[in-house]
Amino acid sequence: MTVSTNTSHLVHPCHPNGEWWRSAVIYQIYPRSWADGDGNGIGDLPGITGHLPYLRALGVDAIWLSPFYTSPQADAGYDVADYRNVDALFGTLTDADELIRVAHANQLRVVVDLVPNHTSDEHVWFQAALAAAPGSPERDRYVFREGTGAGGEEPPNDWQSVFGGPAWTRVTEQDGTPGQWYLHLFDTKQPDLNWENPVVRSEFEDILRFWLDRGVDGFRVDVAHGLIKAHGLPDWEGPMNMLDMTEERTPPPMWDQDGVHEIYRDWRKILDSYPGQRAMCAEAWVEPPERAARYVRSDEFQQSFNFDFLTTPWRAADLIESIDRSYRANDQVGAPTTWVLSNHDVVRHATRLALPVGEPRPNGIFATDPQPDAELGLRRARAATTLMLALPGGAYLYYGEELGLPDHTTLPNEVRQDPAYERTGHKDAGRDGCRIPMPWEKDSPAYGFGSEQQPWLPQPESYGALAVDQQEGVAGSTLELYRTLLRVRRELDLGEGSLTAVDLGPDVVAYDVASGADTVRVILNLGTADVELPSAAEVLVGSEQGLDTASSASLPRPLDPRVLPTDTAVWLRL
Ligand code: NOJ
Repeated sequence: MTVSTNTSHLVHPCHPNGEWWRSAVIYQIYPRSWADGDGNGIGDLPGITGHLPYLRALGVDAIWLSPFYTSPQADAGYDVADYRNVDALFGTLTDADELIRVAHANQLRVVVDLVPNHTSDEHVWFQAALAAAPGSPERDRYVFREGTGAGGEEPPNDWQSVFGGPAWTRVTEQDGTPGQWYLHLFDTKQPDLNWENPVVRSEFEDILRFWLDRGVDGFRVDVAHGLIKAHGLPDWEGPMNMLDMTEERTPPPMWDQDGVHEIYRDWRKILDSYPGQRAMCAEAWVEPPERAARYVRSDEFQQSFNFDFLTTPWRAADLIESIDRSYRANDQVGAPTTWVLSNHDVVRHATRLALPVGEPRPNGIFATDPQPDAELGLRRARAATTLMLALPGGAYLYYGEELGLPDHTTLPNEVRQDPAYERTGHKDAGRDGCRIPMPWEKDSPAYGFGSEQQPWLPQPESYGALAVDQQEGVAGSTLELYRTLLRVRRELDLGEGSLTAVDLGPDVVAYDVASGADTVRVILNLGTADVELPSAAEVLVGSEQGLDTASSASLPRPLDPRVLPTDTAVWLRL
């Protein structure tokens, strides 16, 4: 097929107003899995600080750190016992201050995770609630209710936990009798807070200030769509996962209630009272994009992860529809679209994109499951990222995706740590496979992760060849592809550009991104036939070697060949 522009329409106008979060590329670090500074098998803050120059060379603008606060680690830190301190596993508050300082010195902004939907059951508030009587102010900071049934032996309603099993646990009162039940949308060790209580609101406003005062540039807000529950906690017969809405249905009683927005308006005022464009990003699994866009109205979040894009099947029509719709919804409220393909909750895209197209997305893969084709997954992942990084807006990268890391799909079951594995009675493999320690050096113990002992999760053998030292400076490597994409994106300011759809047939995703004097055409071929590229256009970067051989050369750089095979993507300068 030969490329020629058929029809085209503007999908997204440009928004060049210099706010960093509109176009930033933010790299997610999962602290326990990135770099182990003290050699104990678990990554930590000093380990991260020591490796920040790597990220500067990669070319990202900011880092997001998953939780490193004091926690019993029942959900890898998303069960916080003290929001104002660092868990000894990861270091100290002084280490956090140093990390922020060094990041800033490396021109990297720092986004930290805020977990407001629930605390750990080891938080002083929850311990006080257990010690206090039903109806007390201590209990009112959480969601305690009497059970149903003659003796209150049945839970208050039919809600299930996202991790499997009931969303309610019954407590034993101080006199030893079976007592009230408390709500936990996630693990038993993650009791939900009562956001109708003003004490909870002021506590979190104070926690925001605590970290803003320490210099963080923003927050990624966990379960942002879950804080307010429908009045009366009505039964819910629908499925109980984080994303279970269709356009026809009203939101389930535990997700996306209108009351959440008031909370974020209050937070936005706090952020705006600090200098330096502090920003927040919502983790809100909300459909459709029009509904999700309500989180990024001008007085709420600056960003919200585009999970619609992440979950879109590998088909041209679906990708085009998702991109088009996301821009339309976000442009309506003047917000950037924030792209993402991988994170610590989903199968990495280098593995996910090799799974059968259009089938339900698993949370993890067992060794006994059919094993995805690693080569196909990597090829598609590189093409998907090549598409994503051309799109105006913000983007999040998940640690190791720049190496093309796949999930660990043959993890022994006995090492699994995600609570979802136990709580689903081992039906769900859980998310451990996407949280494997980073490989830095092929020939060092634990592939240079820093651990003298076995790291907290074992690394698959395939990680050796993918280690940083195997890819750095190697033309055609995934690492060099990411570096080139990020460099060209920055040089041509694509993140702030305008976007026009280009129709190249039903199996091709193509856009023109215009910024300043430059127009870049991104083309992704999902069909079986090759797409012929126009001979006049200059190839800036391609997802496979051969499309782009000299990834570190400076622009402009004319290249051939002129053919785009299936599952590859390219940036052309028009
Ligand atoms: C979303 C987080 O990303 C996930 O890792 C965590 O398990 C749940 N929220 C509960 O905090």
